Amino acid sequence: MQVPKPHFAPSAARSDVKEHLPTLRRETPNDASNYARVFMSDGAPARYEEQYRAGTFDAHMHQLQSVWLRQLCQRHFDEPPVHIDYACGTGRIVQALQAETQRAIGYDVSDAMLNRARRRCPDAEFIRVANDAPPDPPLVGCAVIATMYRLILDADQPTRDTGCSFLAEVLRRNPGSIAIVNNHGNTRSLRHFARYKGRQGRWVSELSDAEARRLFARHGLEVVDWFGIGHLPQSLYGSAIGRGARWLNSYLARRQLLTSVAIDISYVLAIEHADS
Ligand SMILES: C[S@@+](CC[C@H](N)C(=O)[O-])C[C@H]1O[C@@H](n2cnc3c(N)ncnc32)[C@H](O)[C@@H]1O
Repeated sequence: MQVPKPHFAPSAARSDVKEHLPTLRRETPNDASNYARVFMSDGAPARYEEQYRAGTFDAHMHQLQSVWLRQLCQRHFDEPPVHIDYACGTGRIVQALQAETQRAIGYDVSDAMLNRARRRCPDAEFIRVANDAPPDPPLVGCAVIATMYRLILDADQPTRDTGCSFLAEVLRRNPGSIAIVNNHGNTRSLRHFARYKGRQGRWVSELSDAEARRLFARHGLEVVDWFGIGHLPQSLYGSAIGRGARWLNSYLARRQLLTSVAIDISYVLAIEHADS
């Protein structure tokens, strides 16, 4: 029997985080520099971008996420907002939103990641930050879309808090702003059951919706909307039903059905009591 060609190529490279974080965590838990160290090497940007190679599951997720972010911008703001991206990495989200924003500022701890972002988005400003203290939130004189993608799942608690406290301050200082933070390993998704399959106990991180909401609430961030993508686990994409999985993922994302069991959830956050 002929097996149909997989629609998605498997990612060749494992992420830096998956490779190194379990060891780092065991060595010194609760040290914010652990997570940051993963992205410091010269090879980190290329390894990170390899995950998003055309045809991979991550490239598909990126495409769904980018379309939704651009539509959110168009719906929410009368004028193009300023984009502030915390833990911007190689500029993936800055680039995805650049057509909808008037300018962008990215923050990250890694010079290697920032240098790649500067080459990718030459019109944006990129600032290096310390890994244990939030930078001064800019006062930009108009509404901001503040984003923090792919940080809270794998990072340790101090790093999550640093990022959320920065976003909360950005929203307080710039009225009319919103923040978007994603959790790309939702505990209640089907990925939960796939995490042990064929992985020989390899560490895969998860974060529950309740944990994410508690984190936001501690910083005065209120969830006003959410968007879920990727309902079928990545392992299915290389299989015979890969094409169907892609179609179903796109369909559920467009309709926003079953958000609570999506693998990757983007939360739209506003500052609580912004007007009081
Ligand atoms: C998984 S990458 C995500 C990059 C980008 N947000 C994206 O979605 O493509 C995580 C990024 O967080 C950065 N990072 C780690 N700790 C940080 C901290 N304390 N403050 C700011 N950035 C940090 C890393 O250098 C890395 O670029």
